[in-house]
Amino acid sequence: MTIIPLLSLLLLLFLLPFYVISQPITTQNDQTTLLNLKHFWSNPPSLSHWNQSSDPCGWPEIICDATTITGIDLPDKNIEGTVPPFICDLKNLTYLDLNYNYFTGDFPTALYNCKNLQYLNLSLNFFVGRIPDDISRLSQELRYLDLYNNNFTGDIPVSISRLSKLSSLQLHMNLFNGSFPEEIGYLNDLEELNLAYNGFKPSRLPPAFTRLKKLRKLYMAEANLIGEIPGNLSSMVALELLDLSINQINGSIPSDLFMLKNLTEVYLYKTNLTGEIPDSIEAVNMTRIDLSENKLTGKIPDGFEKQTSLTNLAVFDNKFSGAIPDGLWKVSTLAIMIMSGNSFSGELPHEMGPKLWILDISNNNFSGELPHELGLKLWMLDISNNKFSGQIPTAISSWTSLRVFKASYNLLDGAIPEDLTALQNLQTLLLDGKLGTNSPVDYRKL
Ligand SMILES: *[C@@H]1O[C@H](CO)[C@@H](O)[C@H](O)[C@H]1NC(C)=O
Ligand SMILES: *[C@@H]1O[C@H](CO)[C@@H](O)[C@H](O)[C@H]1NC(C)=O
Ligand SMILES: *[C@@H]1O[C@H](CO)[C@@H](O)[C@H](O)[C@H]1NC(C)=O
Ligand SMILES: *[C@@H]1O[C@H](CO)[C@@H](O)[C@H](O)[C@H]1NC(C)=O
Ligand SMILES: *[C@@H]1O[C@H](CO)[C@@H](O)[C@H](O)[C@H]1NC(C)=O
Ligand SMILES: *[C@@H]1O[C@H](CO)[C@@H](O)[C@H](O)[C@H]1NC(C)=O
Ligand SMILES: *[C@@H]1O[C@H](CO)[C@@H](O)[C@H](O)[C@H]1NC(C)=O
Ligand SMILES: *[C@@H]1O[C@H](CO)[C@@H](O)[C@H](O)[C@H]1NC(C)=O
Ligand SMILES: *[C@@H]1O[C@H](CO)[C@@H](O)[C@H](O)[C@H]1NC(C)=O
Ligand SMILES: *[C@@H]1O[C@H](CO)[C@@H](O)[C@H](O)[C@H]1NC(C)=O
Ligand SMILES: *[C@@H]1O[C@H](CO)[C@@H](O)[C@H](O)[C@H]1NC(C)=O
Repeated sequence: MTIIPLLSLLLLLFLLPFYVISQPITTQNDQTTLLNLKHFWSNPPSLSHWNQSSDPCGWPEIICDATTITGIDLPDKNIEGTVPPFICDLKNLTYLDLNYNYFTGDFPTALYNCKNLQYLNLSLNFFVGRIPDDISRLSQELRYLDLYNNNFTGDIPVSISRLSKLSSLQLHMNLFNGSFPEEIGYLNDLEELNLAYNGFKPSRLPPAFTRLKKLRKLYMAEANLIGEIPGNLSSMVALELLDLSINQINGSIPSDLFMLKNLTEVYLYKTNLTGEIPDSIEAVNMTRIDLSENKLTGKIPDGFEKQTSLTNLAVFDNKFSGAIPDGLWKVSTLAIMIMSGNSFSGELPHEMGPKLWILDISNNNFSGELPHELGLKLWMLDISNNKFSGQIPTAISSWTSLRVFKASYNLLDGAIPEDLTALQNLQTLLLDGKLGTNSPVDYRKL
């Protein structure tokens, strides 16, 4: 009679620790690894809830697949220090995000042992030195590598192109002062590449990059590019965004650029590009086009009338001429249109896109009378320094959204309508012929 309760008691004593801890053995080891990490980083307050008596899979920073730890997500946790080798004791680690902390030192080669890593984000830290030549020893499964905004210097090693599954490579805003390898063009799965804002030694945009058939976004602003853009861009069939602004690239815009059907954003401002905008246009879903501050000539191609989604168009400070295609004024999505500092001519239409709120056509050669409807919906209108004639329309009293109206240096005459006082929102009004306070607006900040 006493044997059964005794057995039960023994059984209970035997099982009790497992009920209390209630975790499979693998997670226990992993828990120890995480607690060692916390200790290694001097117990940051942000990780105070990492303790022995709770399941790591319940900690917000830990990602689990069932009971296996597969991810560590530690952005903005005020962590200082380095990345210790034992982090790779977490054998199933596929995701590691350490962005926006105070990590220092050289590239953490300790991570070479994390054989299953697919996502590595070390951006916004204080890493220094060169990217090691054997960086290809990182996991062959790596798909995302983000080192943006650190202080890495030197070259980007050729071996980075052996991380063959990479789909996103983010190296912008570092202090790279050597070269980047054209072999990046052999990363067949690459969808996003960002090399912008680095002091590379002057080099061409490698023609090999045109092999990247899955590349959707190419950011290379302020990367010391020189020479011409390769001619066979049309092979980059997936391209949606191209940013080569603020470089000393010269020659003309490749004739097949706007043949890329998926293209939505093009930034080519502040370069040394010359020649005309190619007039073969298959890209009709573009949203933003910025070609300003170059030496481009010729007309805005009629093909731009076909745009269905265009919101921002900036072509200021070039040498464009001719009339603006009639349909372009009316693109229903267009919000901002900055055409100043060219030699555009022709008259303004009576109808413009319903969403247009900023229109700057100053310093051109436009002429004719101002349409009554011109400022109906606009927030800012700058027509200074053109050849507009006739009177300021009395309908101006209904242009009630206007904050800024500049019309100095034209051939306008007649009285300034008294109804101007109806413009309650007006903050800036320039109608003189001695314009001196026409301070430039930085439209990119709008
Ligand atoms: C351990 O952490 C959990 C949250 O992760 C918390 O609820 C619990 O109070 C902590 N236990 C101790 C002993 O600090
Ligand atoms: C974890 O990794 C081991 C060894 O690589 C593997 O057998 C297991 O299936 C993995 N578990 C998960 C949940 O990925
Ligand atoms: C890395 O983190 C930064 C900062 O949050 C983020 O902007 C970036 O998109 C992340 N990189 C990748 C590849 O997800
Ligand atoms: C990183 O570079 C910036 C700008 O050159 C410098 O101010 C900063 O001290 C550097 N930080 C480290 C950790 O080297
Ligand atoms: C690149 O920067 C590093 C660190 O500032 C410097 O030691 C090296 O000489 C520079 N290399 C070139 C080619 O300017
Ligand atoms: C584009 O031309 C360059 C040589 O001018 C070549 O290296 C590259 O492979 C070409 N791209 C494609 C997709 O044919
Ligand atoms: C172009 O975009 C569409 C819609 O997003 C997508 O289905 C298609 O695969 C893209 N084309 C290429 C060549 O990537
Ligand atoms: C572009 O600039 C390079 C020097 O960087 C020069 O050799 C070349 O002739 C220029 N090409 C054109 C079309 O101006
Ligand atoms: C452009 O947009 C239209 C309408 O939104 C859509 O039907 C078409 O598939 C898009 N084209 C591309 C190449 O994405
Ligand atoms: C680009 O234009 C600037 C200013 O006009 C000039 O100083 C520079 O030499 C040009 N660079 C090239 C490569 O043509
Ligand atoms: C401006 O247009 C007039 C005709 O309206 C033309 O005679 C003149 O050459 C043009 N000036 C410029 C700088 O394009």
